[in-house]
Amino acid sequence: MSLLDVSGLTVSAGQQRLVDDVSFTIAPGERVGVIGESGSGKSVTSLAVTGLLSDALTASGSVLLDGTQVIGAPDRALRPLRGPVAGILFQEPLTALDPLMRVGRQIAEPIRRHLGLRGDALHDAVRAALEDVSLPDPRFARAFPHELSGGQRQRIATAIALAARPKLLIADEPTTALDVTVQDEILALLDHLVAEHDMALMFISHDLAVVSRMTDRVVVMRDGRAVEQGSVEQIVREPHDPYTAALVASARALDSVLDAPASAAPTDGEAGR
Ligand SMILES: Nc1ncnc2c1ncn2[C@@H]1O[C@H](COP(=O)(O)OP(=O)(O)OP(=O)(O)O)[C@@H](O)[C@H]1O
Ligand SMILES: [Mg+2]
Repeated sequence: MSLLDVSGLTVSAGQQRLVDDVSFTIAPGERVGVIGESGSGKSVTSLAVTGLLSDALTASGSVLLDGTQVIGAPDRALRPLRGPVAGILFQEPLTALDPLMRVGRQIAEPIRRHLGLRGDALHDAVRAALEDVSLPDPRFARAFPHELSGGQRQRIATAIALAARPKLLIADEPTTALDVTVQDEILALLDHLVAEHDMALMFISHDLAVVSRMTDRVVVMRDGRAVEQGSVEQIVREPHDPYTAALVASARALDSVLDAPASAAPTDGEAGR
């Protein structure tokens, strides 16, 4: 059985369809990328999947998350799923963090609620969670979000998302707000944690290179529709949709610039000497 089974998902704002008849599945342990340009409906899809859509939006179709129907379910039925079934990581970690609470407490809260740990066991679990995201120094537990760098905040957000040991991690452009070196570190960390904890991954991005690094299978979205699905290899080798072809072409163009011999590359610094 699929861990996530999305079938005919449609999300509307009044007459406007933001997500239009989207279907895809994620099996336990499978890594699926959702790729598409800005405004194509990636975030709305991830919010619909976890029942976090704003009240202004209406969803229809079917979303089975570990066997539970999300569409139309009351929030109290979905809350127990967020954490143990689906952990969520957002683009901008500050939106996920409480500015007034030390981050150690923010990690402790889902561990206490979902795993029932208390006292020393809870304290140890928070320390282990921080070690998991490569922040072993106990001073991090006492820090407030504003005292941390963007990369450290995304590590904390990762620790919170993984605190209840989810079967599926949903990561919505988790590194877009970070500079490239930090981006690389966070991707490596997520890659490692998903493998170590045997999680499934729904990884949202507009960057084909990043998606191909993190996932095995891709859903391509355009204008709210899933226009193409397949293995990363399939999509790169034989894109069917024009938008996918353009994505692949632009990734190739970048590759060929990077692969060009150094002597052929323009060197800004030389001219002025
Ligand atoms: N609460 C809302 N009410 C009305 N329209 C919305 C709402 N949330 C999103 N939209 C619209 O839905 C469409 C899809 O938005 P979405 O955030 O899913 O795009 P995205 O693919 O995640 O883009 P990006 O790559 O920029 O994050 C956009 O046109 C957006 O303006
Ligand atoms: Mg988005």
